[in-house]
Amino acid sequence: MSGLRVTAFCGSPRKGGNTETLLRKMLQGAESTGAEVVFRDLNSMSIRGCQGCDWCKENESDFCVNKDDMQTIYKDLVNSDSVIIGSPVYMFQMSAQTKAMIDRFFGLLLPGFKSKIEEKKLALVFSQGAPEDSFKDYIAATEKMLSFLKFNVTDVLVAPDCGDYGSAEGKTDLMAKAFRIGASLLD
Ligand SMILES: Cc1cc2nc3c(=O)[nH]c(=O)nc-3n(C[C@H](O)[C@H](O)[C@H](O)COP(=O)(O)O)c2cc1C
Repeated sequence: MSGLRVTAFCGSPRKGGNTETLLRKMLQGAESTGAEVVFRDLNSMSIRGCQGCDWCKENESDFCVNKDDMQTIYKDLVNSDSVIIGSPVYMFQMSAQTKAMIDRFFGLLLPGFKSKIEEKKLALVFSQGAPEDSFKDYIAATEKMLSFLKFNVTDVLVAPDCGDYGSAEGKTDLMAKAFRIGASLLD
């Protein structure tokens, strides 16, 4: 065990669905390089919407006044060397579960948009029913937003034509790519 950690955040409510399947394959890849891995199911966590109170801007040594399950996620971010965020595409965008977490990433920022945490590698996963490039502008904007939050977005895995439960598992190339990305997250 190298002591390095990779944490995956899953924004799909479907247990064992396409997003989870791909994230678990990526974590297998990370584990194959000796990483300690953590899987978080956002759907089972209680994450309130950001209240826009700016407490996070006045408190440098803490992240958010709201002590809900985001506190676990802030700790995960501090303690992880690399992070994966996976979401199904819902209505052309990320799921509400994923967006709730990302809005609360506001607590990572100090005034002047400096981050309270060290930069870390981030891989993104989007599972969708539609073909590959259908949401490329949205995904590019999401990458840009996460880079602004000082994540180093190294990989984006889009899982197209995955409208059915279990679709991702049957796509050998996609699963192999997921494993490869996971295995490269600590490079
Ligand atoms: C509420 C809802 C909205 C969806 N919206 C879209 C969409 O806008 N575009 C798309 O390609 N697929 C859409 N889908 C299909 C899912 O993105 C797709 O089935 C995905 O693989 C589900 O991932 P999961 O198995 O991890 O939940 C939607 C599914 C649901 C339930």
